[in-house]
Amino acid sequence: MAMASLASNLSFLASSLKLVDSVGSRSSMHNGVQTVAMTAGKQQRSRAGGPMKVVMMAKREQELVDIRKMSQEEINETVIDLKGELFLLRTKKATRQEYKSSEFRRMRKQIARMLTVRREREIEQGITMRESRKLDRKWKKSIVPRPPPSYAATLAEQAKK
Ligand SMILES: *[C@@H]1O[C@H](CO)[C@@H](O)[C@H](O)[C@H]1NC(C)=O
Repeated sequence: MAMASLASNLSFLASSLKLVDSVGSRSSMHNGVQTVAMTAGKQQRSRAGGPMKVVMMAKREQELVDIRKMSQEEINETVIDLKGELFLLRTKKATRQEYKSSEFRRMRKQIARMLTVRREREIEQGITMRESRKLDRKWKKSIVPRPPPSYAATLAEQAKK
């Protein structure tokens, strides 16, 4: 397999999940993942509503806000994809291919945030930790294995050639 194209696909995924954009604070959807443009470094918290005020939420808060807009199904699917990407990243590391080490932390954090929101919703429904683990095991069994998005893109690319 062409390592260069695999690497470029991974960096595409990285940028599509990235939270930093050159322009202000816009948001958009990629693959069901809402990305938000933020100015890095600004951790200023601010309540929405002040006229003419540029609201700059902490990155973590903004991400949580965006994840909360997602449906349960979208969250579950995104968790599957992100775990797949993490697996791919680990594979690259193990086989000494090019990879971006900062992606590990970012993806793990993103997965953790998704799971946090999922658990929050369960708590609202009065689902105990014990029941939650049981539901999670059941859900995991129901997952049909699939290639992570960046790898699927690589395969599609190669099929064209
Ligand atoms: C999402 O995953 C949880 C497992 O934590 C499961 O209980 C729930 O039914 C799943 N929801 C959907 C819509 O797949």
